[in-house]
Amino acid sequence: MRITPTNEETKLESNDFIVSKTDDKGKITYCNEIFMSIAGYKEEELIGQNHNIIRHPHMPKIAFKLAWELIQHGKEFFGFVKNMKKDGGFYWVFANITPDYDEHQHIIGYTSVRRKPNENAIETIIPIYEKLLVLENTSGIKTSEAFLTDFLSQNKTSYDELIIKLQG
Ligand SMILES: Cc1cc2nc3c(=O)[nH]c(=O)nc-3n(C[C@H](O)[C@H](O)[C@H](O)COP(=O)(O)O)c2cc1C
Repeated sequence: MRITPTNEETKLESNDFIVSKTDDKGKITYCNEIFMSIAGYKEEELIGQNHNIIRHPHMPKIAFKLAWELIQHGKEFFGFVKNMKKDGGFYWVFANITPDYDEHQHIIGYTSVRRKPNENAIETIIPIYEKLLVLENTSGIKTSEAFLTDFLSQNKTSYDELIIKLQG
C-alpha cells in the first residue's frame, strides 16, 4: 500500500514510550498500545509485517544500514528516526534498538524503545538527513556513507557520541 506523506506532525509526550519487537529479519512480533495509537495501525496490521511499514521516505538509507550493522553484531543502536503514520503524517523519535538472545547466545530478534526526541536535536538532524538523502538519490549510499564519516571526523566525534550529545 502506497501512502502519500503529509506535513502533519504528531509530537510524543515525555512519558510516551513506543515499544516494538521483531524477529531476526525485522518482522514485527510485538508492539505496545502507544505504538499503535501513534502510528495509526491496528495490531493485526502490524504483526508479521516488516518494520519498514512505518519507514518515512525522508529517512536516509545509511541510518538503517548503520543500525543493522550494529545490532546484528550484538551492539545497540541509538538514533533519531522520522516515522510515517498510516495516514501519511509523521512523528520523530529518539530510538534505541537492542538484540534479544536465546539461551545459546544466538540473536533471535530485536527490541526497540523510542521516546520523545530533544527538539533542538531534530533541528540539527533534519539538514544532515536531507543532505544524506540527496547524496543517496544522486550518487548512492556509498557517497552518503563517506559524507557521514567525513562529517564525524571533521567534528572530531563518533556517531554514538554525536547522537547521545544531541539528545542530552
Ligand atoms: C526492532 C527494530 C525496530 C525498528 N524500528 C524502525 C522504525 O521505527 N522505523 C523504521 O523506519 N525502521 C525501523 N526499523 C528498521 C527496518 O527494519 C528497516 O531496516 C528500515 O525501515 C528500512 O527499510 P528498507 O530497507 O526497506 O528501506 C527497525 C528495525 C528493528 C530490528
